[in-house]
Amino acid sequence: MWTMIESLPDQYRWAAELEAPTTSPASTVLVCGMGGSGISGDFARVVAAAEGVDVRIHKDYGLPSWVEHVRPLIVAVSYSGNTAETLSSVEAALDFGLPVAAVTTGGELSRMAGVQDFPAVLVPAGMQPRAALGYLVGAVVRLVAAASSLGDPIPMLLEAANETADLLGEERAGPGHDQARRIAAALAGRLVAVWGSAGPTEVAAQRWAKQFHENAKTPAYWSIVPELNHNELVGWASSHHGLSSATGLVVLRDQGEIPEIARRFDLMPDLIGQSVHRAGEVWTTGTSVLARAATASLIGDLVSVHVAEAAGIDPVPVDVLTELKNRL
Ligand code: F6R
Repeated sequence: MWTMIESLPDQYRWAAELEAPTTSPASTVLVCGMGGSGISGDFARVVAAAEGVDVRIHKDYGLPSWVEHVRPLIVAVSYSGNTAETLSSVEAALDFGLPVAAVTTGGELSRMAGVQDFPAVLVPAGMQPRAALGYLVGAVVRLVAAASSLGDPIPMLLEAANETADLLGEERAGPGHDQARRIAAALAGRLVAVWGSAGPTEVAAQRWAKQFHENAKTPAYWSIVPELNHNELVGWASSHHGLSSATGLVVLRDQGEIPEIARRFDLMPDLIGQSVHRAGEVWTTGTSVLARAATASLIGDLVSVHVAEAAGIDPVPVDVLTELKNRL
């Protein structure tokens, strides 16, 4: 898993160097995909939202009914190319006569692209889908830019590459690893809660939780401010059940967060008191939304693998997911 994480800067660079994909113009893009592939749609959504471009996400079978009148471009993302929900979305899109583009390594999705003659961006194979984040996010962002009014994505992809490379450094000695080791030690043996806020750290908080589940084989939970200030804060601030103190909290802060959000983050520690064990605060780096989401996510990838390693767990296999797919 370390080698795969260490390839992330090169993955973003690969996407920057990709020949511009050709696809139908669209004012709305709907990204369909599951798990480690589907999260590329969440990244694309926040990147596009910052420029007023409408990118939506679908993580289910079929398609939502609004596609019939909005008529979005469907971007189907499946690393294996064989995920049932994503293939079902493509079939529904073809039935509705919607334009489709794919991001995959091959499989049935690539076969369908050939037969139905829709564009497919082929990403390098041989990885766990969740470890191919840079390829998948990069390819989806390139497709969105090709279809919509999103500005040139190459500078942000190169910035994501450079910022993640700086955090990784050489031989696992970069500042990202230092920070990740400290947080991993503070999280050992605990459930994990990750808080972000709308935009880059919302995506990163989600990525942290999913990487904890898959790499560290540890339940993890994510949420965002300000919504959590209207409900979940009560549960976290209570010590009567003992669950809060069994949890390690990581707070993701964004360089671009507005003062209202910063004030909420600043006030919460005092209100929560000793109920939750505060395991660390991580700040995004870089200026583009993509680089900020990529850097906060990378620290989570590193923490999840450091936690796995400390517990003697192999971060790579996700046997129970495969077993469920086999039984379906
Ligand atoms: C495995 C992983 C999973 C898969 C998901 C969908 O590393 O992250 O979440 O991404 O089961 O499979 P693909 O990506 O092949 O469509």
